[in-house]
Amino acid sequence: MAAVPASLAGSFKGSFAYYTIKDRLPQILTKVIDTLHRHKNEFFEEHGEKGIEAEKNTISLLSKLRNELQTDKPLVPLDDKLPDTLLWNQYLEYQQNLLDGNGQPSWFQSPWLYVECYMYRRIHEALAQNPPIDDYDVFKEVKVQSFFESHQAIIALCTYLRELLKNIEDLDEKQLQEDFLKLLQVSLWGNKCDLSISAGEDNSQKANPLKSLDDLKPFILVDDMESIWSLLINCKKRRTSEDITRIDIVLDNAGYELITDLVLADFLLSSKLATEVHFHGKCIPWYVSDTTKHDFNWTIKQLQSANNRWMSKCGMNWEGSIKKGVWVYHDHMFWTLPHEFCSMALVATDLYAELEKSNLIIFKGDLNYRKLTGDRKWEFTVPFHQALNKFHPAPLCSLRTLKSDVQVGLKHGQGEQFVTTEPDWMISGKYGVVQFDASL
Ligand code: F6P
Ligand code: MG
Repeated sequence: MAAVPASLAGSFKGSFAYYTIKDRLPQILTKVIDTLHRHKNEFFEEHGEKGIEAEKNTISLLSKLRNELQTDKPLVPLDDKLPDTLLWNQYLEYQQNLLDGNGQPSWFQSPWLYVECYMYRRIHEALAQNPPIDDYDVFKEVKVQSFFESHQAIIALCTYLRELLKNIEDLDEKQLQEDFLKLLQVSLWGNKCDLSISAGEDNSQKANPLKSLDDLKPFILVDDMESIWSLLINCKKRRTSEDITRIDIVLDNAGYELITDLVLADFLLSSKLATEVHFHGKCIPWYVSDTTKHDFNWTIKQLQSANNRWMSKCGMNWEGSIKKGVWVYHDHMFWTLPHEFCSMALVATDLYAELEKSNLIIFKGDLNYRKLTGDRKWEFTVPFHQALNKFHPAPLCSLRTLKSDVQVGLKHGQGEQFVTTEPDWMISGKYGVVQFDASL
C-alpha cells in the first residue's frame, strides 16, 4: 500500500480533534446522561423497578466512560456480545500492534476517527447491557425536535418538488439539469444541520433553502456537479428498457438533511435519471443525529400524516416507492465500525459487492468524508482519487459541508489562503464540496 499521511488525533494539541475529544465529546456524554435521567419516569411506567435499575446502571457506565475519556485512560475491549463486538476488539488489537510496544491505545493518543466512533459504540454497549432499556435511542428526542424545528423549510421543499413533478415529463434536458443541480445543492447544504457539531443544540433549517442557493454558490470549494450530471444523463440516454440505473445514497443526518436527500431521490426517479435508489443508514444511534431505520420510517410516516397537503403527498409517494421496491433501505454494521472506507473490501466484502452494483454512490456528510479520506493529514492539493486509497466500488461523490480538518482536491493556494483569513473555515460548516471520482 502506498504511504499515507498520519491520522488526525487528539495528540495534536490545539487541533479540532484535540478540542473535540477534550470538550465536545464529554459534553455529548453529559447530555446523554441527562437525557436518561429525564426519562426515568417513562422507564418506570413502562418497565417498573427494572426500568429504573437499568437507567441507573446505564448512567453509571456512562459516567465511568466519561471519566476514562477525560483522564486519557487506555481503550478497553467491548464486553457485550453483539454481531460487531469481535470486529471492534480486533480493531483495538490492530491499534495496539501499530504502537509496537510503545504504550497503549488511548483517547488522546489514538486516531481521532477511531476514538470518536468508539465513544458512540460504548454508549450503545452501556444500553445494550441494560435490558429492558437496551433498545432505547438516547438521541431520538433531539432528532425528533430538529425535524419539527425545520417544519417550514420542509414544507417549502415538498411544495417545490410537487410543483416540479407536475410537468416533469415536459422538461427539456437543460431544465432537467437546472433542477437536478438545484436539488443536489439543497442536499449538500442540508448537511449543515447536524447535531454532533452543535452537541445536540438546535441546528435546524429555518429559511427557505431554495432561496439561498445563489448566495451559497461561492462557498462550494470543489464543484464537480457538471461531471455528476454528465454521468447521469448519459446513463439515461444509453439505457434500454431492461437496464437499471441504480443510485446509492449513504445517508447522514435525520431531520432536515434526510428530507433533502429524499427529495433528491424522488426527483432522480421521477425524472428517470435513475430507476432505483438505495439508501444506507446506521444500525445503531450514531454521531447524535445520524439516520437509523427507525428514523427513516418515522420520517416518512410523519410526512404522510402531515396537515400540509404537499408534505403528505410526498410521504405517500415515498411509501409507495418503498412498496414498489424502487426505493430500498439497507443497513450494515460496517457503517458504525471505526474503519476507513478503504478497508471495506476486506472487512465488509458483502457491502462492497453491493455498492459495486451502483451507477453512482452519493456519500453524505462530514463523517463519511473523513472515512473516505481516512481522516488523515493530507495536503489540500492531493487528488480526491489518491486520498480514497483504492476505495472505488463504483463512481462516487461526496456532498459535504466542512466540519473537520481534512480536505483534499483543492487548487494550489486555495486552502492556504483560508488558513490566514478564516482560521475556522474547515469546521464551521460554512463551506461545502461536491467532489466526484469516476475512476475504478
Ligand atoms: O464531531 C466530529 C464530527 O465528525 C465533525 O467533524 C462533524 O461535526 C460531525 O462529527 C459529523 O458531521 P456529519 O453529520 O456531517 O457527518
Ligand atoms: Mg451525522
